[in-house]
Formats: sequence, structure tokens, C-alpha cells
Amino acid sequence: MRKINVGVAGLGRAFSLMAPSFAADPRVALVAAADPRPEARQRFAGEFRGAAFSSVEEMIAEKSVEAVYVATPHQLHAEHACLAAARGKHVLVEKPMALGLEECRAMIAAARAAGVALVVGHSHSFDLPILRTKKLLESGAFGPVRMITALDYTDFLYRPRRPEELDTARGGGAVFNQAAHQVDVVRLLGGSRVKSVCAHTGAWDPARPTEGAYACLLSFESGAFATLVYSGYAHFDSDEFCGWVGEDGLSKDPELYGVARKRLASSKNETALKADRDYGGSSFSQSGKSQFHPHFGPLVVSCERADLRPLPNGVMIYADGEKRLEPLPAPAVPRAGVIDELYGAIVEGRAPLHGGEWAMATLEVCLAMLRSAREQKEVALTSRTGSPT
Ligand SMILES: NC(=O)c1ccc[n+]([C@@H]2O[C@H](COP(=O)([O-])OP(=O)(O)OC[C@H]3O[C@@H](n4cnc5c(N)ncnc54)[C@H](O)[C@@H]3O)[C@@H](O)[C@H]2O)c1
Repeated sequence: MRKINVGVAGLGRAFSLMAPSFAADPRVALVAAADPRPEARQRFAGEFRGAAFSSVEEMIAEKSVEAVYVATPHQLHAEHACLAAARGKHVLVEKPMALGLEECRAMIAAARAAGVALVVGHSHSFDLPILRTKKLLESGAFGPVRMITALDYTDFLYRPRRPEELDTARGGGAVFNQAAHQVDVVRLLGGSRVKSVCAHTGAWDPARPTEGAYACLLSFESGAFATLVYSGYAHFDSDEFCGWVGEDGLSKDPELYGVARKRLASSKNETALKADRDYGGSSFSQSGKSQFHPHFGPLVVSCERADLRPLPNGVMIYADGEKRLEPLPAPAVPRAGVIDELYGAIVEGRAPLHGGEWAMATLEVCLAMLRSAREQKEVALTSRTGSPT
């Protein structure tokens, strides 16, 4: 089997979530990484026997690297993706693709000019229950999608953060970081272009002055509409509605209520708290193997003749005459869908579902949410990018 040699830019939280996927998948090998944090480089060199550099430029220059996984903070995505493409390396870049649409266009152009693949992820629209729901919708058995309801209540805002993660102008807050998942999921299932956005956002904690919550109504060209609700204020946890299976498919202890908020409150130095828990830090621990599929909160897709509900163990179908679970086996490799698309694009010449134009359209919706909330009006989207295939 052809193996793709991957170099990692940024050994932080995103990398620690993808690392088990790279480690378990025979189609990829982690051969190099770059991060300014020595403790992260040291751990990477020990764990993967790969070359570890302090700069992305040096890592990208490494001959053995064929594809670069860009998992640096958002504001560096465009720079690192374009650098990689210019060196003829394929690119897998984390969500959100970038901070602005011009940066996205530059990334798409750089990949096209170099003839390399550009895949954007992980986002929760790679989750198998979402992809299976899309297939069920495409079968036509339930009629057209009419309405989607998505909600998620988490402790997002109280996880230890870099300063820019609490500043919307620099890509912080729930819209850039969490709507990037939720919008991606809803667009994939909505099945047509988003034509307008009406949103409200909430920034209720002056100590963490970015959006922690939003509510948004998306209208699709097909006439369907979707409601997206998110709160990261660490009170209600909507995993309660998902059988206490957490976002990454791991069972969760409901007794650990408020743990993120308590941990943050008891720490005097948020940067140190984060560094300690990050890859290479002294309290870092790799998540266990998930028995369930990851998810991004409760979701109901209402079609003309059924409601479909992706779950951590399958897709529940509530049709006119019956309800049944379309079961899915537990994931063998976490986030395997991301590698499927990367491998498909590089080795099998398949256009990725989550390519540059797709992800740019998701960012466009997120930016429209921020604008709609700021200007207190509905925002029409005029671009033709990212219509679902
Ligand atoms: N898909 C997901 O589930 C998911 C989860 C978390 C984060 N993310 C995304 O991943 C990206 C990184 O977020 P994170 O939470 O991992 O942040 P993080 O702060 O935990 O990690 C970022 C890492 O990049 C390193 N870094 C900073 N500047 C660098 C540079 N110039 N060159 C190389 N490395 C550099 C930092 O030292 C750090 O190790 C963000 O865009 C975020 O949205 C995605």
C-alpha cells in the first residue's frame, strides 16, 4: 500500500486529537513536525521517531515530507498552507480554513498552481453518522430536506486558551471555532447553497470577552432552513442528550460537572495551565479509544417524510410508519474519514468533499453570522462558492 509521509505544523491540541488517527492508519506515516515548544518536539521525536524542527519552513524543506498537516493557530493557516504548496507538498489544514476569504482564495490558488491536494479538516462533518445521514438523504427515500435543528452546549469558553482565542478580531470565540463545525455539518446535510444568514451572538463574560454563544437561522437556496444554537458557557452540557457520549465519542462522567470552570478558576496562569495540558506538557494525557462516533451535539434533519437523527452509534430514522436505528459499527480508527479524503485526493485522484472551496464557503457563513449579529440584520450571501455536490 502506498504510504503518505506527513509532516505536522503545530503540535498542540488539534494535533493531539489527530495523532491517534495518524498512528493507527497504515496509509500514513508521521515523519516530521515543527513547533516552537521544545517539550512538544521532544515528545514527538520520542513517540513517532520523526524529525522535529522549531520552524515550519525547515520542516517543509524536509524531502521525505509529502503532505503537511497545518494545525497551527488560525492566523498562521494561510501562510503555512501556501508555504507547503509552494514546496510541492499536499496540504491538510485544520478548521477554520483561515480568518478571511482572501486568505482562503490564496490557499486555493497556491494548491492549484502547485497541483497539490488541499483538504480542510477535521470538522465534525467528517463524522461517519453525518456521512451516513447524507447518504440516506441522497437515497431520496425520505423526500427533500425541509428543516435542520442543531444545538450544542459545552464548556468551550472555559478551556485554557491562548489570548487570541478570546479575541474575535484574531479568530477567537464560538463562531470562528465552533460554528466552523456546526455550519459545516448543517451545510453538508442541507444539500444546497446557503443563501442568507440571520444570527445573534452572546459575549456574556467580561473576563473572556468574545462570543461564547450564538443562535442562527440559515436559509438554503432549496427553501430549507436550519437553526443552529451553541453555548460554550459551561453550564448545561448537551452531551446529556447524547447518552453522555462526549464530542470525541468517549463516555463522559456526568458527575464531573463544571470541571473546566473550576480548573481555570483555581489556576493563576492560564498560559501555564494550557502548556501543562498540551502535547508534551507534564499533565498531557492521550484520550482513550472511543467506542462511539464523535458528534457535535444533538441534530435533527426533518425531511418531508421522516426526521433523521445522527447519533454516536448510528442514525435514528423516524419515518411515517416506523422508527428504526440504522446502526454503525464502533470506529476502528478515530477520524479515519480525514485520512480517507487526504489519501483519496493524493493517491486516488478523488476530489475531496472538504476541499478549499467547500471550507471557504463554511467560513463565509461564519463571517456572515458575525456580521449579521453586529449589524442586527439578515445577511445575504452572494458568492457561488461551495455548493454541495
Ligand atoms: N478539528 C478539531 O477538532 C480541532 C480541535 C482543536 C483545534 N483545532 C484547530 O487547530 C488549530 C490549532 O488549535 P489548537 O487548539 O491545537 O491550538 P494549540 O495552541 O493547542 O496548538 C497550536 C500549536 O501550534 C504551535 N505553534 C504556534 N506558532 C507556531 C509556528 N509559527 N510554527 C509551528 N508551530 C506553531 C504552538 O506551539 C502549539 O503547540 C486551530 O486552527 C483550531 O481551530 C481543531
